[in-house]
Amino acid sequence: MPHWTEKVPDEVGEILIDERQIQKRVAELGGAITRDYQGKNPLLIAVLRGAAIFYADLIRHIDLKLRIDFISVSSYGAATRSCGEVQLLKDVESSIRAVDVILVEDIIDSGLTVDYLLRNLRNRGPASLRTCTFLSKPSRRQVQVQIDYVGFEVPDRFLVGYGLDHNQKYRNLPFIAVLDGV
Ligand code: IMP
Ligand code: MG
Repeated sequence: MPHWTEKVPDEVGEILIDERQIQKRVAELGGAITRDYQGKNPLLIAVLRGAAIFYADLIRHIDLKLRIDFISVSSYGAATRSCGEVQLLKDVESSIRAVDVILVEDIIDSGLTVDYLLRNLRNRGPASLRTCTFLSKPSRRQVQVQIDYVGFEVPDRFLVGYGLDHNQKYRNLPFIAVLDGV
């Protein structure tokens, strides 16, 4: 058993996606983006903070001269469900006009966050705009959003690890686990 299991409290339950499955799938996504963007220099925008772990792994599997940037929106806070209001906390530092942009998310749940971000970014005239999400919970969607690359579709359960948190905890777990009692 890996060393960190000792530190994981009881509320972290079943492992839904283990480290090996994650790494294999992230490599596949990187390969797909590499093929689709041949001859281009996309700007990959990570949505902080959740996507940071996925993003760091993903970009190292993309064999292109890409650029990176970060955007931050208000999160759930201590709640486990989206309140539906999205606020921009930190904008990207690059101009995206005429740029091939890929927005990278940790998870698309209701879709409200990505919907807001896509509308916001699209207004700035990018050459193209696609989304790549590590996880998707299709059963929870409130707005239909365009998802171009998805790592895994997951059931409607509260998940932690690999960037996903509960009250800022568990982001560093190298797997995706179900949080019991949430
Ligand atoms: P949406 O706006 O409802 O699609 O929510 C997107 C954001 O909610 C994600 O970027 C996550 O930060 C958070 N979120 C949604 N589901 C989960 C979960 O199961 N665990 C942890 N965070 C989640
Ligand atoms: Mg997020």
